[in-house]
Amino acid sequence: MKPNVNVERLQLRADERQRPAGSSIWVPTSILDLVPWMNTARLVLSSPSRNFQQVHAALALMQPAAVVFGMGYLTNSAIIPVLIGKSFERTNRRGTTKDTQTVEENHRYVVVEGIYSMEGEICHLPEIVSICKKYKAYVYLDEAHSIGAIGKTGRGVCELLGVDTSDVDIMMGTFTKSFGSCGGYIAGSKDLIQYLKYHCPAHLYATSISTPAAQQVISVIKVILGEDASNRGAQKLVRIRENSNFFRAELQKMGFDVLGDNDSPVMPIMLYNPAKIAAFSRACLQDNLAIVVVSFPAIPLLLARARICISASHSREDLIKALQVILRRVHFLSIVNMI
Ligand SMILES: Cc1ncc(COP(=O)(O)O)c(C=O)c1O
Repeated sequence: MKPNVNVERLQLRADERQRPAGSSIWVPTSILDLVPWMNTARLVLSSPSRNFQQVHAALALMQPAAVVFGMGYLTNSAIIPVLIGKSFERTNRRGTTKDTQTVEENHRYVVVEGIYSMEGEICHLPEIVSICKKYKAYVYLDEAHSIGAIGKTGRGVCELLGVDTSDVDIMMGTFTKSFGSCGGYIAGSKDLIQYLKYHCPAHLYATSISTPAAQQVISVIKVILGEDASNRGAQKLVRIRENSNFFRAELQKMGFDVLGDNDSPVMPIMLYNPAKIAAFSRACLQDNLAIVVVSFPAIPLLLARARICISASHSREDLIKALQVILRRVHFLSIVNMI
């Protein structure tokens, strides 16, 4: 099997990449080391690999325990039905029991996103946590877009807003955004994770994420936490914030109706007109700008939008070029969204 990874995008240093003999493709050294173990067995048949244990250990920085799934979407769709109707002990980071909810209270779950994927808003987590404490509801936090992107050290919305992670009962995230890999995780109390491992079909009967994908996650966690003996992670966190705030401010100056909060790398530009959004995306692509547009049924019919996701790897020139293309194409198609 020939691994084909876009090394440019991963921004690997010279000592982190290799070109196998006879190949014109650069690949990360870590993948070459792991190629013989690319296939994975059903979890029920295999013991967790060294890589899995490392991913779990890294995620356990936020919560006492964690479990990893092969796909982010599956993580939510398979876990939420297994959780509903169950009660778990609340534990702090050291695994000490805080309290257990009674059976009558156990059906309440409040499911929120760290950064709302279609709106770009950062969730009001401190207020949500305090309401959930009052009404004894569990907090389920989906950090697909916030983990590794916001917070001083990339630990997401809890770190950004000063919420103790032990006040969030279920922390979910995906590896497809900040981690450049695939898969998803759930982090929480040992009681919760043990229950999921034994009751969730998506864990019992699915294959695990492949070893290279797990290795990619581990490498990124090390970069974000500065464990790679460099300050690349810290620089990337500064850059994604600066890039996001620059792009948002420029769009607003141009008169676009942009949703979301400052510091959020998710930036929906409202286009409204459902008939023109596909044409907008294709027109931008003609100018070498790939842009994601979102339409019904993901959002209401008349609230079509283009969703920009800013990266730390975007240069200022990339961003300026994208702004010019967006402005030109919105005018070209007479999309009425200017103030
Ligand atoms: C909020 C949210 N949760 C979960 C997912 C699913 O993640 P994945 O794309 O890794 O399957 C997404 C995907 O974009 C998302 O936006």
